[in-house]
Amino acid sequence: MKKSFILLLILTVLNAGYSVAQNETSREINQLVIVANHRGPVISKDIYGQFSEHLGYCIYGGLWVGPESKIPNTYGIRNDVIAALREMKIPNLRWPGGCFADTYHWKDGIGPTEKRASIINTNWGGVTEDNSFGTHEFMKLTELLGCDAYINGNVGSGSVKEMSEWIEYLTSDAESPMTRLRKENGRDKPWKVRYFAIGNENWGCGGNMTAKFYANTMRQYSTFLHNYSGNRLYRVACGPYDYNYDWTETLMKDPSTRNMFQGLSIHYYSVVDGWNYKGSAINFTEREWFETMRLNLKMDEIIRGHSAIMDRYDPGKTKGLVVDEWGNWFNVEPGTNPGFLYQQNTMRDAVTAAIHLNIFNQHADRVKVANLAQMVNVLQAVILTKDDKMVLTPTYYVFKMFSVHQNATLLKTDLECEDYTYGDKHIPAISASASVDKDGKLHISMANLNPGKAITVTCPLIGETFGKVTGQILTAKAMNAYNSFDDPDVVKPAGFNDFVLKDGTLTVDMPSKSVVVLELTH
Ligand code: AHR
Repeated sequence: MKKSFILLLILTVLNAGYSVAQNETSREINQLVIVANHRGPVISKDIYGQFSEHLGYCIYGGLWVGPESKIPNTYGIRNDVIAALREMKIPNLRWPGGCFADTYHWKDGIGPTEKRASIINTNWGGVTEDNSFGTHEFMKLTELLGCDAYINGNVGSGSVKEMSEWIEYLTSDAESPMTRLRKENGRDKPWKVRYFAIGNENWGCGGNMTAKFYANTMRQYSTFLHNYSGNRLYRVACGPYDYNYDWTETLMKDPSTRNMFQGLSIHYYSVVDGWNYKGSAINFTEREWFETMRLNLKMDEIIRGHSAIMDRYDPGKTKGLVVDEWGNWFNVEPGTNPGFLYQQNTMRDAVTAAIHLNIFNQHADRVKVANLAQMVNVLQAVILTKDDKMVLTPTYYVFKMFSVHQNATLLKTDLECEDYTYGDKHIPAISASASVDKDGKLHISMANLNPGKAITVTCPLIGETFGKVTGQILTAKAMNAYNSFDDPDVVKPAGFNDFVLKDGTLTVDMPSKSVVVLELTH
Protein backbone atom coordinates (compact mmCIF):
# COMPACT_ATOMS: atom_id res chain seq x y z
CA MET A 1 0.00 0.00 0.00
CA LYS A 2 2.83 2.35 0.93
CA LYS A 3 4.51 1.67 -2.41
CA SER A 4 1.41 2.69 -4.35
CA PHE A 5 1.19 5.94 -2.41
CA ILE A 6 4.80 6.80 -3.23
CA LEU A 7 4.12 5.93 -6.86
CA LEU A 8 0.96 8.00 -6.76
CA LEU A 9 2.93 10.97 -5.44
CA ILE A 10 5.62 10.64 -8.10
CA LEU A 11 3.04 10.28 -10.85
CA THR A 12 1.02 13.21 -9.57
CA VAL A 13 4.09 15.44 -9.59
CA LEU A 14 5.25 14.19 -13.00
CA ASN A 15 1.82 14.52 -14.53
CA ALA A 16 1.27 17.93 -13.01
CA GLY A 17 4.50 19.06 -14.64
CA TYR A 18 3.41 17.47 -17.92
CA SER A 19 0.04 19.24 -17.95
CA VAL A 20 1.53 22.59 -17.05
CA ALA A 21 4.17 22.21 -19.78
CA GLN A 22 1.48 21.35 -22.33
CA ASN A 23 -0.75 24.16 -21.22
CA GLU A 24 1.69 26.97 -20.59
CA THR A 25 -0.85 29.72 -21.11
CA SER A 26 -3.67 28.46 -18.91
CA ARG A 27 -1.63 26.54 -16.30
CA GLU A 28 -4.60 24.30 -15.74
CA ILE A 29 -4.25 20.85 -14.28
CA ASN A 30 -7.12 18.49 -14.75
CA GLN A 31 -6.05 15.18 -13.42
CA LEU A 32 -7.79 12.28 -11.76
CA VAL A 33 -5.29 9.78 -10.38
CA ILE A 34 -6.92 6.38 -9.89
CA VAL A 35 -5.23 3.86 -7.64
CA ALA A 36 -6.80 0.68 -8.94
CA ASN A 37 -5.25 -1.53 -6.29
CA HIS A 38 -6.22 0.69 -3.35
CA ARG A 39 -9.57 -0.75 -2.41
CA GLY A 40 -11.84 1.24 -0.14
CA PRO A 41 -15.25 0.41 1.33
CA VAL A 42 -18.07 -1.21 -0.63
CA ILE A 43 -20.45 1.36 -2.11
CA SER A 44 -23.84 0.39 -0.70
CA LYS A 45 -26.28 -0.14 -3.55
CA ASP A 46 -28.82 1.63 -1.37
CA ILE A 47 -27.31 5.07 -1.91
CA TYR A 48 -29.03 4.82 -5.30
CA GLY A 49 -32.44 4.69 -3.59
CA GLN A 50 -35.63 6.57 -4.43
CA PHE A 51 -38.38 8.27 -2.47
CA SER A 52 -42.13 8.16 -3.15
CA GLU A 53 -44.49 10.27 -1.09
CA HIS A 54 -48.24 10.78 -1.16
CA LEU A 55 -47.68 14.16 -2.76
CA GLY A 56 -49.09 15.53 -6.00
CA TYR A 57 -49.00 12.93 -8.74
CA CYS A 58 -46.22 10.78 -7.30
CA ILE A 59 -48.37 7.90 -6.05
CA TYR A 60 -51.76 8.58 -7.63
CA GLY A 61 -51.31 8.86 -11.39
CA GLY A 62 -47.54 8.40 -11.30
CA LEU A 63 -47.25 4.92 -9.83
CA TRP A 64 -50.80 3.86 -9.13
CA VAL A 65 -53.59 3.97 -11.69
CA GLY A 66 -55.70 1.16 -10.23
CA PRO A 67 -56.44 -2.26 -11.74
CA GLU A 68 -59.40 -0.95 -13.78
CA SER A 69 -57.33 1.70 -15.59
CA LYS A 70 -56.85 1.66 -19.36
CA ILE A 71 -53.21 2.48 -18.74
CA PRO A 72 -51.39 -0.89 -18.85
CA ASN A 73 -50.80 -1.96 -15.26
CA THR A 74 -50.01 -4.87 -12.97
CA TYR A 75 -52.23 -5.00 -9.88
CA GLY A 76 -52.94 -1.29 -10.50
CA ILE A 77 -49.29 -0.23 -10.85
CA ARG A 78 -48.17 1.30 -14.16
CA ASN A 79 -46.21 -1.16 -16.33
CA ASP A 80 -44.17 1.55 -18.08
CA VAL A 81 -42.95 2.95 -14.77
CA ILE A 82 -42.15 -0.51 -13.35
CA ALA A 83 -40.08 -1.38 -16.44
CA ALA A 84 -38.16 1.91 -16.39
CA LEU A 85 -37.32 1.64 -12.69
CA ARG A 86 -36.17 -1.97 -13.05
CA GLU A 87 -33.89 -0.88 -15.92
CA MET A 88 -32.48 1.82 -13.67
CA LYS A 89 -31.77 -0.85 -11.03
CA ILE A 90 -33.67 0.83 -8.21
CA PRO A 91 -32.33 -0.75 -4.98
CA ASN A 92 -34.82 0.54 -2.39
CA LEU A 93 -37.91 2.70 -2.22
CA ARG A 94 -38.94 4.96 0.67
CA TRP A 95 -42.66 5.46 1.36
CA PRO A 96 -45.19 6.96 2.37
CA GLY A 97 -43.41 10.25 3.17
CA GLY A 98 -41.88 12.78 3.96
CA CYS A 99 -44.17 15.01 5.95
CA PHE A 100 -47.08 12.81 4.90
CA ALA A 101 -45.63 9.92 6.93
CA ASP A 102 -46.32 11.64 10.24
CA THR A 103 -50.00 12.04 9.30
CA TYR A 104 -50.42 8.54 7.90
CA HIS A 105 -52.39 5.87 9.76
CA TRP A 106 -51.62 2.61 8.04
CA LYS A 107 -54.88 0.86 8.98
CA ASP A 108 -56.72 3.39 6.77
CA GLY A 109 -54.93 1.81 3.80
CA ILE A 110 -55.69 -1.92 4.19
CA GLY A 111 -58.72 -4.12 3.50
CA PRO A 112 -61.28 -3.89 0.68
CA THR A 113 -60.55 -0.72 -1.31
CA GLU A 114 -64.15 0.51 -1.27
CA LYS A 115 -64.23 0.38 2.53
CA ARG A 116 -61.01 2.33 3.06
CA ALA A 117 -61.23 5.70 4.75
CA SER A 118 -60.75 8.78 2.62
CA ILE A 119 -58.34 11.27 4.17
CA ILE A 120 -57.19 14.85 3.63
CA ASN A 121 -53.57 15.25 2.66
CA THR A 122 -52.97 18.23 4.92
CA ASN A 123 -49.36 18.76 3.89
CA TRP A 124 -49.71 18.66 0.14
CA GLY A 125 -52.51 20.63 -1.47
CA GLY A 126 -55.27 19.65 0.98
CA VAL A 127 -56.55 17.06 -1.49
CA THR A 128 -58.67 14.08 -0.49
CA GLU A 129 -57.15 10.63 -0.99
CA ASP A 130 -59.13 7.41 -1.07
CA ASN A 131 -56.30 5.29 0.33
CA SER A 132 -56.48 2.86 -2.59
CA PHE A 133 -52.69 2.69 -2.43
CA GLY A 134 -51.73 1.28 0.96
CA THR A 135 -49.44 -1.27 2.58
CA HIS A 136 -50.28 -4.22 0.31
CA GLU A 137 -49.98 -2.11 -2.83
CA PHE A 138 -46.63 -0.66 -1.73
CA MET A 139 -45.20 -4.07 -0.88
CA LYS A 140 -46.44 -5.39 -4.24
CA LEU A 141 -44.69 -2.45 -5.91
CA THR A 142 -41.37 -3.31 -4.24
CA GLU A 143 -41.79 -6.94 -5.33
CA LEU A 144 -42.43 -5.88 -8.91
CA LEU A 145 -39.41 -3.57 -8.81
CA GLY A 146 -37.24 -6.21 -7.12
CA CYS A 147 -36.13 -3.64 -4.54
CA ASP A 148 -36.05 -3.32 -0.75
CA ALA A 149 -38.86 -1.63 1.12
CA TYR A 150 -38.04 1.46 3.15
CA ILE A 151 -41.08 2.37 5.23
CA ASN A 152 -41.34 5.60 7.19
CA GLY A 153 -43.38 5.30 10.39
CA ASN A 154 -45.58 7.91 12.03
CA VAL A 155 -44.21 9.40 15.25
CA GLY A 156 -45.72 12.89 15.01
CA SER A 157 -49.42 11.96 15.15
CA GLY A 158 -49.28 8.20 15.63
CA SER A 159 -48.68 5.97 18.60
CA VAL A 160 -46.17 3.37 19.72
CA LYS A 161 -48.93 0.74 19.44
CA GLU A 162 -49.80 1.74 15.86
CA MET A 163 -46.19 1.59 14.71
CA SER A 164 -45.40 -1.62 16.51
CA GLU A 165 -48.51 -3.30 15.06
CA TRP A 166 -47.51 -2.21 11.55
CA ILE A 167 -44.21 -4.07 11.85
CA GLU A 168 -46.00 -7.11 13.25
CA TYR A 169 -48.55 -7.01 10.41
CA LEU A 170 -45.80 -6.71 7.82
CA THR A 171 -43.18 -9.13 9.06
CA SER A 172 -44.45 -11.66 11.59
CA ASP A 173 -45.09 -15.29 10.81
CA ALA A 174 -46.60 -16.05 14.24
CA GLU A 175 -50.27 -16.41 15.08
CA SER A 176 -51.54 -13.01 16.30
CA PRO A 177 -54.37 -10.52 15.73
CA MET A 178 -52.17 -8.53 13.30
CA THR A 179 -51.08 -11.54 11.25
CA ARG A 180 -54.69 -12.81 11.14
CA LEU A 181 -55.74 -9.42 9.82
CA ARG A 182 -53.03 -9.56 7.15
CA LYS A 183 -54.19 -13.01 6.09
CA GLU A 184 -57.83 -11.84 5.93
CA ASN A 185 -56.58 -9.11 3.58
CA GLY A 186 -55.13 -11.69 1.22
CA ARG A 187 -51.50 -11.98 2.21
CA ASP A 188 -50.55 -15.20 3.90
CA LYS A 189 -46.79 -14.95 4.17
CA PRO A 190 -45.06 -12.05 5.89
CA TRP A 191 -42.98 -9.66 3.83
CA LYS A 192 -39.41 -8.66 4.48
CA VAL A 193 -38.91 -5.01 5.39
CA ARG A 194 -35.30 -3.84 5.33
CA TYR A 195 -35.46 -0.17 6.34
CA PHE A 196 -37.85 1.46 8.79
CA ALA A 197 -37.70 5.13 9.79
CA ILE A 198 -38.90 6.31 13.19
CA GLY A 199 -40.58 9.53 12.08
CA ASN A 200 -39.64 12.15 9.50
CA GLU A 201 -38.35 15.68 10.08
CA ASN A 202 -39.61 15.53 13.66
CA TRP A 203 -37.94 18.91 14.25
CA GLY A 204 -40.55 20.35 11.82
CA CYS A 205 -43.58 18.82 10.10
CA GLY A 206 -43.13 15.63 12.13
CA GLY A 207 -44.06 17.25 15.46
CA ASN A 208 -41.83 20.32 16.01
CA MET A 209 -39.80 18.44 18.60
CA THR A 210 -36.53 19.43 20.19
CA ALA A 211 -33.63 17.05 19.64
CA LYS A 212 -33.77 15.89 23.26
CA PHE A 213 -37.51 15.26 23.16
CA TYR A 214 -37.20 13.38 19.87
CA ALA A 215 -34.29 11.29 21.18
CA ASN A 216 -36.38 10.09 24.13
CA THR A 217 -39.45 9.53 21.96
CA MET A 218 -37.43 7.59 19.40
CA ARG A 219 -36.04 5.35 22.15
CA GLN A 220 -39.56 4.50 23.24
CA TYR A 221 -40.81 3.78 19.71
CA SER A 222 -37.74 1.77 18.76
CA THR A 223 -38.16 -0.49 21.79
CA PHE A 224 -41.35 -1.89 20.27
CA LEU A 225 -40.09 -2.37 16.71
CA HIS A 226 -39.32 -6.07 16.85
CA ASN A 227 -37.38 -8.32 14.53
CA TYR A 228 -39.99 -10.95 13.66
CA SER A 229 -39.53 -14.22 11.81
CA GLY A 230 -35.98 -13.66 10.61
CA ASN A 231 -36.61 -10.09 9.43
CA ARG A 232 -33.80 -7.71 10.50
CA LEU A 233 -34.95 -4.11 10.63
CA TYR A 234 -32.47 -1.35 9.90
CA ARG A 235 -34.01 1.35 12.10
CA VAL A 236 -33.48 4.90 10.89
CA ALA A 237 -33.70 7.70 13.45
CA CYS A 238 -34.79 11.12 12.28
CA GLY A 239 -31.78 13.34 11.82
CA PRO A 240 -31.30 17.00 11.04
CA TYR A 241 -31.65 19.28 8.06
CA ASP A 242 -28.31 20.25 6.42
CA TYR A 243 -26.01 21.95 8.98
CA ASN A 244 -27.89 21.27 12.22
CA TYR A 245 -25.00 19.46 13.90
CA ASP A 246 -26.47 19.81 17.41
CA TRP A 247 -29.23 17.38 16.49
CA THR A 248 -26.67 14.77 15.39
CA GLU A 249 -24.66 15.34 18.57
CA THR A 250 -27.78 14.77 20.72
CA LEU A 251 -28.70 11.56 18.88
CA MET A 252 -25.16 10.19 18.90
CA LYS A 253 -23.60 11.10 22.23
CA ASP A 254 -25.55 8.84 24.58
CA PRO A 255 -24.91 5.13 23.95
CA SER A 256 -28.38 4.18 25.16
CA THR A 257 -29.86 6.48 22.50
CA ARG A 258 -27.61 5.53 19.61
CA ASN A 259 -28.05 1.84 20.36
CA MET A 260 -31.69 2.22 19.41
CA PHE A 261 -31.01 2.84 15.71
CA GLN A 262 -28.76 1.63 12.92
CA GLY A 263 -28.97 4.70 10.68
CA LEU A 264 -29.38 8.43 11.17
CA SER A 265 -31.19 10.34 8.46
CA ILE A 266 -30.26 13.76 7.06
CA HIS A 267 -32.10 15.90 4.51
CA TYR A 268 -30.64 18.52 2.22
CA TYR A 269 -32.23 20.29 -0.73
CA SER A 270 -30.44 22.68 -3.07
CA VAL A 271 -32.60 25.81 -3.14
CA VAL A 272 -31.32 28.69 -5.26
CA ASP A 273 -32.13 32.18 -3.91
CA GLY A 274 -34.07 30.92 -0.86
CA TRP A 275 -37.45 29.33 -0.21
CA ASN A 276 -39.51 32.32 -1.35
CA TYR A 277 -38.16 32.32 -4.90
CA LYS A 278 -36.44 29.14 -5.91
CA GLY A 279 -36.20 29.93 -9.62
CA SER A 280 -37.60 28.14 -12.62
CA ALA A 281 -36.59 24.55 -13.34
CA ILE A 282 -36.21 25.28 -17.05
CA ASN A 283 -35.84 29.04 -17.60
CA PHE A 284 -32.66 29.95 -15.78
CA THR A 285 -29.50 31.96 -16.25
CA GLU A 286 -25.90 30.85 -15.96
CA ARG A 287 -25.86 32.46 -12.51
CA GLU A 288 -28.62 30.11 -11.42
CA TRP A 289 -26.82 27.17 -13.05
CA PHE A 290 -23.67 28.06 -11.14
CA GLU A 291 -25.50 28.54 -7.84
CA THR A 292 -27.23 25.19 -8.27
CA MET A 293 -23.85 23.50 -8.79
CA ARG A 294 -22.35 25.32 -5.81
CA LEU A 295 -25.21 24.37 -3.51
CA ASN A 296 -25.14 20.73 -4.63
CA LEU A 297 -21.42 20.53 -3.84
CA LYS A 298 -22.28 21.54 -0.25
CA MET A 299 -23.48 18.00 0.30
CA ASP A 300 -19.85 16.98 0.73
CA GLU A 301 -19.31 19.50 3.53
CA ILE A 302 -22.58 18.49 5.20
CA ILE A 303 -21.68 14.80 5.16
CA ARG A 304 -18.20 15.56 6.49
CA GLY A 305 -19.69 17.62 9.34
CA HIS A 306 -22.12 14.93 10.47
CA SER A 307 -19.60 12.14 9.88
CA ALA A 308 -17.07 13.87 12.12
CA ILE A 309 -19.57 13.82 14.99
CA MET A 310 -20.51 10.23 14.29
CA ASP A 311 -16.82 9.23 14.11
CA ARG A 312 -16.29 10.53 17.65
CA TYR A 313 -18.98 8.27 19.09
CA ASP A 314 -18.88 5.47 16.54
CA PRO A 315 -15.32 5.14 15.26
CA GLY A 316 -16.09 1.65 13.97
CA LYS A 317 -18.71 3.19 11.66
CA THR A 318 -21.46 0.82 12.71
CA LYS A 319 -24.11 3.52 12.19
CA GLY A 320 -24.97 4.66 8.71
CA LEU A 321 -25.79 8.14 7.48
CA VAL A 322 -29.06 7.91 5.59
CA VAL A 323 -29.47 10.87 3.22
CA ASP A 324 -33.09 9.99 2.61
CA GLU A 325 -34.08 13.27 0.96
CA TRP A 326 -31.88 15.20 -1.45
CA GLY A 327 -32.27 17.03 -4.73
CA ASN A 328 -33.02 20.32 -6.46
CA TRP A 329 -36.12 22.20 -5.38
CA PHE A 330 -37.32 24.80 -7.91
CA ASN A 331 -40.57 26.72 -8.40
CA VAL A 332 -43.45 24.55 -9.58
CA GLU A 333 -44.20 24.65 -13.30
CA PRO A 334 -46.55 27.56 -14.13
CA GLY A 335 -50.20 26.62 -13.89
CA THR A 336 -49.65 23.57 -11.67
CA ASN A 337 -50.85 23.16 -8.08
CA PRO A 338 -48.23 24.82 -5.80
CA GLY A 339 -48.79 22.02 -3.26
CA PHE A 340 -47.84 19.33 -5.79
CA LEU A 341 -44.17 20.34 -6.27
CA TYR A 342 -44.16 19.43 -9.96
CA GLN A 343 -41.04 20.63 -11.76
CA GLN A 344 -39.29 19.81 -15.04
CA ASN A 345 -35.81 18.33 -15.12
CA THR A 346 -32.92 19.53 -17.31
CA MET A 347 -29.28 18.93 -18.04
CA ARG A 348 -28.62 21.01 -14.92
CA ASP A 349 -30.36 18.35 -12.82
CA ALA A 350 -28.35 15.62 -14.53
CA VAL A 351 -25.02 17.23 -13.66
CA THR A 352 -26.08 17.81 -10.06
CA ALA A 353 -27.29 14.21 -9.74
CA ALA A 354 -23.79 13.15 -10.84
CA ILE A 355 -22.27 15.49 -8.25
CA HIS A 356 -24.38 13.93 -5.51
CA LEU A 357 -23.80 10.33 -6.51
CA ASN A 358 -20.04 10.92 -6.75
CA ILE A 359 -20.09 12.48 -3.27
CA PHE A 360 -22.05 9.55 -1.85
CA ASN A 361 -19.62 7.09 -3.47
CA GLN A 362 -16.69 8.96 -1.95
CA HIS A 363 -18.31 8.70 1.50
CA ALA A 364 -19.17 5.02 1.16
CA ASP A 365 -17.63 4.35 4.57
CA ARG A 366 -20.44 6.28 6.30
CA VAL A 367 -23.26 6.91 3.83
CA LYS A 368 -25.22 3.68 3.56
CA VAL A 369 -28.56 4.80 2.15
CA ALA A 370 -29.70 7.81 0.11
CA ASN A 371 -33.00 8.61 -1.57
CA LEU A 372 -33.60 11.14 -4.30
CA ALA A 373 -36.60 13.40 -3.71
CA GLN A 374 -38.68 12.26 -5.42
CA MET A 375 -39.09 9.39 -7.84
CA VAL A 376 -42.10 10.34 -9.99
CA ASN A 377 -43.69 13.74 -10.81
CA VAL A 378 -42.32 15.53 -7.72
CA LEU A 379 -39.18 17.71 -7.38
CA GLN A 380 -36.08 16.24 -9.10
CA ALA A 381 -38.01 13.25 -10.43
CA VAL A 382 -36.47 10.48 -12.51
CA ILE A 383 -39.85 9.92 -14.21
CA LEU A 384 -42.63 12.26 -15.29
CA THR A 385 -46.06 11.00 -16.34
CA LYS A 386 -49.10 12.57 -17.96
CA ASP A 387 -52.08 10.27 -18.42
CA ASP A 388 -50.71 7.30 -20.37
CA LYS A 389 -47.46 9.04 -21.35
CA MET A 390 -44.15 8.68 -19.55
CA VAL A 391 -40.93 10.63 -19.88
CA LEU A 392 -37.52 9.65 -18.52
CA THR A 393 -35.68 12.70 -17.23
CA PRO A 394 -31.96 13.53 -17.53
CA THR A 395 -31.67 12.61 -13.84
CA TYR A 396 -33.04 9.14 -14.65
CA TYR A 397 -30.23 8.54 -17.12
CA VAL A 398 -27.57 9.54 -14.59
CA PHE A 399 -28.95 6.99 -12.11
CA LYS A 400 -28.92 4.37 -14.81
CA MET A 401 -25.38 5.15 -15.94
CA PHE A 402 -24.09 5.24 -12.35
CA SER A 403 -25.79 1.95 -11.40
CA VAL A 404 -22.49 0.20 -12.22
CA HIS A 405 -21.20 1.50 -8.87
CA GLN A 406 -23.87 -0.36 -6.88
CA ASN A 407 -22.14 -2.77 -4.46
CA ALA A 408 -18.79 -2.13 -6.15
CA THR A 409 -15.64 -1.29 -4.19
CA LEU A 410 -14.64 2.35 -4.01
CA LEU A 411 -11.15 3.10 -5.33
CA LYS A 412 -8.74 5.68 -4.01
CA THR A 413 -8.72 8.68 -6.34
CA ASP A 414 -7.01 12.03 -6.24
CA LEU A 415 -8.63 14.81 -8.23
CA GLU A 416 -6.93 18.04 -9.08
CA CYS A 417 -8.88 20.28 -11.42
CA GLU A 418 -9.42 23.80 -12.60
CA ASP A 419 -12.13 26.00 -11.16
CA TYR A 420 -15.38 26.94 -12.77
CA THR A 421 -15.68 30.63 -11.93
CA TYR A 422 -18.75 32.82 -11.97
CA GLY A 423 -18.42 36.38 -10.71
CA ASP A 424 -16.23 36.19 -7.64
CA LYS A 425 -17.17 32.61 -6.78
CA HIS A 426 -15.25 29.47 -7.69
CA ILE A 427 -16.10 25.79 -7.58
CA PRO A 428 -14.20 22.76 -8.87
CA ALA A 429 -15.15 22.18 -12.51
CA ILE A 430 -14.97 18.39 -12.31
CA SER A 431 -16.71 15.86 -10.07
CA ALA A 432 -15.54 12.24 -10.08
CA SER A 433 -15.39 8.83 -8.41
CA ALA A 434 -14.22 5.35 -9.37
CA SER A 435 -14.97 1.80 -8.30
CA VAL A 436 -14.19 -1.76 -9.22
CA ASP A 437 -16.99 -4.31 -9.42
CA LYS A 438 -17.01 -8.00 -8.49
CA ASP A 439 -15.89 -8.97 -12.02
CA GLY A 440 -12.86 -6.66 -11.86
CA LYS A 441 -14.35 -4.02 -14.17
CA LEU A 442 -13.29 -0.51 -13.26
CA HIS A 443 -15.82 2.29 -13.61
CA ILE A 444 -15.05 5.99 -13.62
CA SER A 445 -17.87 8.52 -13.38
CA MET A 446 -17.15 12.16 -14.09
CA ALA A 447 -19.10 15.35 -14.63
CA ASN A 448 -18.00 18.63 -16.18
CA LEU A 449 -19.85 21.35 -14.25
CA ASN A 450 -18.83 24.15 -16.59
CA PRO A 451 -21.64 24.82 -19.12
CA GLY A 452 -19.35 26.78 -21.42
CA LYS A 453 -16.04 24.94 -21.56
CA ALA A 454 -14.82 21.50 -22.59
CA ILE A 455 -12.17 20.05 -20.29
CA THR A 456 -9.59 17.36 -20.90
CA VAL A 457 -8.94 15.18 -17.87
CA THR A 458 -5.91 12.89 -17.66
CA CYS A 459 -6.35 9.81 -15.53
CA PRO A 460 -3.14 7.98 -14.58
CA LEU A 461 -4.15 4.42 -13.68
CA ILE A 462 -1.97 3.09 -10.93
CA GLY A 463 -1.58 -0.48 -9.73
CA GLU A 464 -3.31 -2.29 -12.59
CA THR A 465 -3.18 -2.42 -16.35
CA PHE A 466 -6.25 -2.10 -18.51
CA GLY A 467 -6.61 -2.87 -22.21
CA LYS A 468 -10.14 -1.90 -23.18
CA VAL A 469 -12.28 1.15 -22.48
CA THR A 470 -15.91 1.85 -23.35
CA GLY A 471 -17.99 4.83 -22.38
CA GLN A 472 -21.34 6.54 -22.22
CA ILE A 473 -22.08 10.24 -22.17
CA LEU A 474 -25.03 12.40 -21.25
CA THR A 475 -24.88 15.93 -22.57
CA ALA A 476 -26.92 18.46 -24.54
CA LYS A 477 -26.49 21.62 -26.55
CA ALA A 478 -28.39 23.81 -24.13
CA MET A 479 -27.91 23.84 -20.37
CA ASN A 480 -31.69 23.82 -19.95
CA ALA A 481 -32.35 20.98 -22.41
CA TYR A 482 -35.07 18.65 -21.14
CA ASN A 483 -37.33 15.81 -22.21
CA SER A 484 -40.98 16.67 -22.66
CA PHE A 485 -44.04 14.56 -23.47
CA ASP A 486 -43.91 15.90 -27.05
CA ASP A 487 -40.15 15.56 -27.38
CA PRO A 488 -39.04 12.81 -24.98
CA ASP A 489 -35.56 12.04 -26.37
CA VAL A 490 -33.79 15.41 -26.29
CA VAL A 491 -31.43 14.37 -23.49
CA LYS A 492 -30.38 10.74 -23.45
CA PRO A 493 -27.13 8.81 -23.16
CA ALA A 494 -24.98 8.10 -26.18
CA GLY A 495 -21.88 5.99 -26.79
CA PHE A 496 -18.71 7.91 -25.95
CA ASN A 497 -15.21 7.47 -27.35
CA ASP A 498 -13.43 10.79 -26.93
CA PHE A 499 -10.65 9.23 -24.90
CA VAL A 500 -7.23 7.72 -25.42
CA LEU A 501 -5.63 5.02 -23.30
CA LYS A 502 -1.86 5.16 -23.62
CA ASP A 503 0.97 4.06 -21.36
CA GLY A 504 -1.32 3.54 -18.40
CA THR A 505 -2.98 6.95 -18.65
CA LEU A 506 -6.49 7.52 -19.86
CA THR A 507 -7.08 10.96 -21.36
CA VAL A 508 -10.73 11.97 -21.54
CA ASP A 509 -12.20 14.93 -23.41
CA MET A 510 -15.22 16.02 -21.41
CA PRO A 511 -17.57 18.33 -23.32
CA SER A 512 -19.06 21.23 -21.40
CA LYS A 513 -22.00 20.30 -19.09
CA SER A 514 -21.55 16.58 -19.49
CA VAL A 515 -21.70 13.39 -17.47
CA VAL A 516 -19.49 10.49 -18.55
CA VAL A 517 -19.20 6.92 -17.25
CA LEU A 518 -16.29 4.80 -18.49
CA GLU A 519 -15.72 1.07 -18.14
CA LEU A 520 -12.19 -0.32 -18.15
CA THR A 521 -11.40 -3.99 -18.51
CA HIS A 522 -8.11 -5.91 -18.66
O1 AHR B 1 -39.95 16.10 -0.38
C1 AHR B 1 -40.87 17.05 0.04
C2 AHR B 1 -40.83 17.31 1.53
O2 AHR B 1 -39.61 17.87 1.89
C3 AHR B 1 -40.92 16.09 2.41
O3 AHR B 1 -42.24 15.69 2.61
C4 AHR B 1 -40.32 16.56 3.69
O4 AHR B 1 -39.76 15.52 4.44
C5 AHR B 1 -39.31 17.59 3.25
O5 AHR B 1 -39.39 18.76 3.98
